[in-house]
Amino acid sequence: MDILLNAANAALHVAHGLRRDVEVGLLLLGPPDPPRFVRLESFRLRNFQPDIRSNAALVRLALKDASRIERETSPGVFGSKAGFEEALDRLGPAFVYLREGGKDIRDAILPADATFVLSDNQDLTAAEDRSVLDRGAVPVGLGPIPLHTDHAIALVNNELDRRNV
Ligand SMILES: C[S@@+](CC[C@H](N)C(=O)[O-])C[C@H]1O[C@@H](n2cnc3c(N)ncnc32)[C@H](O)[C@@H]1O
Repeated sequence: MDILLNAANAALHVAHGLRRDVEVGLLLLGPPDPPRFVRLESFRLRNFQPDIRSNAALVRLALKDASRIERETSPGVFGSKAGFEEALDRLGPAFVYLREGGKDIRDAILPADATFVLSDNQDLTAAEDRSVLDRGAVPVGLGPIPLHTDHAIALVNNELDRRNV
C-alpha cells in the first residue's frame, strides 16, 4: 500500500498543488479479496495530500464493498473489482511500459495521452508482461539502475513536462 500511495503522489503532486490532467490506476492483487482497482481522477480530487497517511483513508474507503461496477467513494476516487487486463482496458491505449532495459525515454516516441504501466517492488509476471506488450505498449527505460516506482514516475513526469505534452 505504501508503494502505491507514494506512486500516486509522485504522479499527482507538484510543489504547490496537484497536476489536474492525470488519471492514476492502482491495481491491488494481494489478499484478502483480490482484485481491487482504484482510479484517481486528479481534476476531481479533494483532500489529496502530500502526506500518504491521509490518502490511505481515501484509498481504503474505495477498497470497501467493491463490485465490478465502479463507484466514486470520495471526490475523484473510484473503487471497483477489475483484474490486470480489465484495468488496462479501462485506462486505455496508447500504453507505454516502463521496464528496465527498454528504449531510453529521452530517445523514445511517447504517444499523446498515454497510459504508463509500472510494477511495484516485483516485476510483472510473464503473463502480465505479455498482456501489456499485446496491447502495443512501447517498452521504455529510465537508465541502467532499477528505481523505486515513485522515483520512476517522477522521471517520466519530468520528461513529459520537458516535452510539454
Ligand atoms: C522497484 S522496480 C521493480 C523491481 C526491480 N526489477 C528490481 O530489481 O527489484 C519498480 C518499477 O519501476 C519501473 N522502473 C524502475 N526502474 C526503472 C528503470 N531504470 N527503467 C524503466 N523502468 C523502471 C518499472 O516499471 C519497475 O517494474
